[in-house]
Amino acid sequence: MKKIKIPFGKPQIDFREKNIVQRVLESGQLVHGLKSKEFENDFRKYTGAKDAITVSSCTAGMHLFYFTVNIGEGDEVILPAQTHVATAHAVELVGAKPVFVDSKFPTGNIDVEQIEKKITKKTKAITVVHYLGNPVDMIKVSSLAKKYKLYLLEDCALALGAKIKNKHVGLYGDAGFFSFYPVKHITTAEGGMIILNSNKYSKILRKKKAFGYNKSLDQRTHPGIYDVDHLGYNYRMSEIHASLGIIQLKKFNTFLKKRSKNFNYIKNKISNINGLSIVPNLNSFIKGSHYCLSILISKKIKNNRSKIINLLKNYGIGSSIYYPHPIPRLNFYKKKYKLSSFNYKTASEFSDRIICLPIGPHVNKKSLDFMSIKIKKIFAKILNKEIKK
Ligand SMILES: Cc1ncc(COP(=O)(O)O)c(C=O)c1O
Repeated sequence: MKKIKIPFGKPQIDFREKNIVQRVLESGQLVHGLKSKEFENDFRKYTGAKDAITVSSCTAGMHLFYFTVNIGEGDEVILPAQTHVATAHAVELVGAKPVFVDSKFPTGNIDVEQIEKKITKKTKAITVVHYLGNPVDMIKVSSLAKKYKLYLLEDCALALGAKIKNKHVGLYGDAGFFSFYPVKHITTAEGGMIILNSNKYSKILRKKKAFGYNKSLDQRTHPGIYDVDHLGYNYRMSEIHASLGIIQLKKFNTFLKKRSKNFNYIKNKISNINGLSIVPNLNSFIKGSHYCLSILISKKIKNNRSKIINLLKNYGIGSSIYYPHPIPRLNFYKKKYKLSSFNYKTASEFSDRIICLPIGPHVNKKSLDFMSIKIKKIFAKILNKEIKK
């Protein structure tokens, strides 16, 4: 029997990406060209943002924003415990202190009710993460940010296509940050985008992502006509990466429809299986990005997670864990801030019990049927063994 292979994520690259990259390579214009402008423009239109700025990664974008608005030593930034380490590193890199908030069932998103308790005189920003692409209640969080005059950032790394009341996530705060790493909704290999709902920070962010030059290359009438007014990084996106993004974004509506269809299809097939529950995709006015279909293994069999993942792997079914540890459990943060995971119980539950399954555009109905049958079989086997113990 031919072995089926369903990776967790698979970039959807065809002749269109290959052609555009080849044309960029042949043009000789590998940075500072029109492709990154075109990608920004397309992304701005797609999300409905006032401005969109390409960066070299989502992490770079968040770091750049804190750096640009002068968040640094002595300041605190509130963020969820359950996220990728990048969300915390971006804070740490400017010398500010990340202050973690536990998650809440059933989505695993930041517990919005606990944010206010963590606000101190030192707090400068709240950064939310739309965990697994399910939007946080931004109406509540933005009113808190306004009340305490705090910056509000949205880490949308897994949330392209996610909306609240038809407004794209990333536009509720001061800035939204996207990732185009290969397993994400669209890819540029490595890459990221900042979206803004006003032009207030556009100019300065663009300067600071390119060494702090006062003139971009196309504003210079001849070589050497520039000065440097600011300290800055090199967080630019190349023309090669941007050209990939242009094609990927054109395909994105089709990708998103497929993800949503796959999500609902497999959800219906596996939701009644004993020993697991599905991390929900919320209600009608909130639209998730269907990044993956996540299951939580029931508490009594949670020690079997590695076994379940291995059994899936043996059947050729890829999976992932978002995220293996809440940040307070990671050595660097645990030691530096003397944190105990006891205070982040729900975030820890997600880290210990979650398995994220593939539903991307590379997954067809046959694969979903296969996955459902095998998941049912694996859970029956595990539960059976537990009963006999
Ligand atoms: C929530 C979140 N934020 C940030 C990142 C980092 O993105 P990048 O690799 O583009 O810096 C990731 C990566 O998976 C993520 O999941």
